[in-house]
Order: sequence, then C-alpha cells, then structure tokens
Amino acid sequence: MRVNHVGEVCAQALYEGQAATSADPSLQAFFKEAAAEEGDHLAWTRQRLSELGARPSLLNPVWYGGALLLGAVAGRFGDRYSLGFMVETERQVERHLADHLERLPVADVGSRAIVEHMRRDEGGHADQAQALGAAPMPEPVRAVMRLAARVMTATAHRI
Ligand SMILES: [Fe+2]
Ligand SMILES: [Fe+2]
Repeated sequence: MRVNHVGEVCAQALYEGQAATSADPSLQAFFKEAAAEEGDHLAWTRQRLSELGARPSLLNPVWYGGALLLGAVAGRFGDRYSLGFMVETERQVERHLADHLERLPVADVGSRAIVEHMRRDEGGHADQAQALGAAPMPEPVRAVMRLAARVMTATAHRI
C-alpha cells in the first residue's frame, strides 16, 4: 500500500507538471482534473496506510519533485506526446494494480476495494488520454518508464 501511495504522489505531480506545460486550456483542465482524481487516490491510500499501522515513504518529497519535473519535461514534447506519456503511465499502473489485486489476501476487503477502484480509474484516464489524441510512446521510452517504475517500487517497499 506504501508503493501505491507513492504511485499516487507521482501521478498527481506528473499531471500537475503536464497541466502547467500545456498551451491548450482544455488539456490543462483535463490534466488538472486527472491530478485531482489522483489526489483522491492519494487520500484513500494514505488513510489505508494509517489503518494498517504503516507509514508513508520517507522519500515522498523526492518522488513528488521528481515527478513534477518529469511531467513538465513530458509537456515540453507537445500535447500529443504528453498525452501518450499519460496513456503509457496509466497502463503500467493499471497492470501493477491488477497484479497487486491478485496478491492481496481475499480477507483484506478494505485494501482490495481501494485498489480495484483505482485500477478502474487509471484505465479510464488512459482511455480518455487516448481519445484526446495521444501519440504512441516509442518502445525505448516505455522501457525506461518500466525501469523507473521498478526502481520506485523496490525503493518504496523499504524507504
Ligand atoms: Fe491514481
Ligand atoms: Fe490515473
């Protein structure tokens, strides 16, 4: 759940960065709305962490700053690539959450409800970004994103 919480810290920061760098007011609104939904996810995962007696990642300010910068960089490549970056991000998160659901105990109803709800929302974000004209991400970029997600996941497990 700490990993999921870090993921939402990053997602929120990415989309804020992307909203700030888009020149299109309707896309700025789209990214901001997505960031607000990630803010909901952030609150749910934070609450669940407390219920489980666990602490959030100590590196959250670092995750937040890094993701904000990355979102701004993605935005610099133009709206179509920025949307494409969002599609790839959300698809990877969706897969992570589906995988997490398989590993979560059936008895952990509270965590499962949150993860399932987020999985649906992330899929929705990817679909919306796709419908707005996302450009496909080149495979090397996707590979780097997967690697970054693995580093983030492994680190957030411990710190
Ligand atoms: Fe999310
Ligand atoms: Fe999302």
